[in-house]
Amino acid sequence: MTTTVAIIGATGKMGRLVSDLIARTEGFEVVARLDSHSELSEMLRAQIAVDLTRPDVSRNVVDFATEHGLQVLVGTSGWTQDGIDSLARRLAGREDTGVIIIPNFSIGSVLATAFAALAARFYDSIEIVEAHQPSKVDSPSGTAVRTAELIGRARAELGPVSAPHTDQRARGQQVASVPVHSLRLSGLLARQDVLLGGTGETLTISHNTLSPSAYESGILLALDAARTARGVSVGLDQIVDLGFTTAASEGASK
Ligand SMILES: NC(=O)c1ccc[n+]([C@@H]2O[C@H](COP(=O)([O-])OP(=O)(O)OC[C@H]3O[C@@H](n4cnc5c(N)ncnc54)[C@H](OP(=O)(O)O)[C@@H]3O)[C@@H](O)[C@H]2O)c1
Repeated sequence: MTTTVAIIGATGKMGRLVSDLIARTEGFEVVARLDSHSELSEMLRAQIAVDLTRPDVSRNVVDFATEHGLQVLVGTSGWTQDGIDSLARRLAGREDTGVIIIPNFSIGSVLATAFAALAARFYDSIEIVEAHQPSKVDSPSGTAVRTAELIGRARAELGPVSAPHTDQRARGQQVASVPVHSLRLSGLLARQDVLLGGTGETLTISHNTLSPSAYESGILLALDAARTARGVSVGLDQIVDLGFTTAASEGASK
């Protein structure tokens, strides 16, 4: 049976990527393509709404879709833990809808985030440097926010990371106590380094997205999972078995 999909943000880079991917994939069909000039009601002919818009638009799209009983897959970055928690409260007990939020569809990025959370208990000094193309409107990136939050969760019993002088702007923005530094550079697609400092050593966990095709397998896995999702799930690691769990990844589904 074919699952029908509405893409919100269909004229954007990610929207076009997902649209082309679905056209090459059996079992899914795009029946609605929405952009900033569309009425949200245009999505109602689909079973799954895929949101690939902007952080200031995404919540409204998700609220509309879930109010009307659509399944939702969110690829838009910028969702905060507060926003996720409030959405989870709103959907609690609903058996007719579910939302999957994927801050990064790349499996390498998900692994890098999981590795960082795994290492976080062993280093008190941790900072994140993320770099994207200049057209990215939100900073820090959703992946950096998610990575910092999972590091914070992994260190729940140890407390905040050691981050001196964060009152100075050049020291970045703190997320879950972790300083995050955002670069916006022409020529780049997406890169993230998590730097962990210990006694006489540093560890760097680095991920580099070289082409948007890196997102394709994650998008297909997430679309498949979105068919039957309930509640709110965050992150590809909730869908893919990474072969290990971190204290941080437990309980990420709400
Ligand atoms: N999860 C991941 O792995 C991943 C990877 C890359 C990017 N992203 C995120 O995905 C999102 C989209 O990225 P992008 O590079 O495709 O952005 P983009 O090229 O700027 O496209 C944005 C899309 O959103 C639409 N839009 C803007 N306001 C809207 C509204 N009020 N209602 C409906 N549609 C609206 C735009 O329509 P118009 O053409 O009419 O303006 C356009 O189709 C961003 O948040 C980005 O950070 C996620």
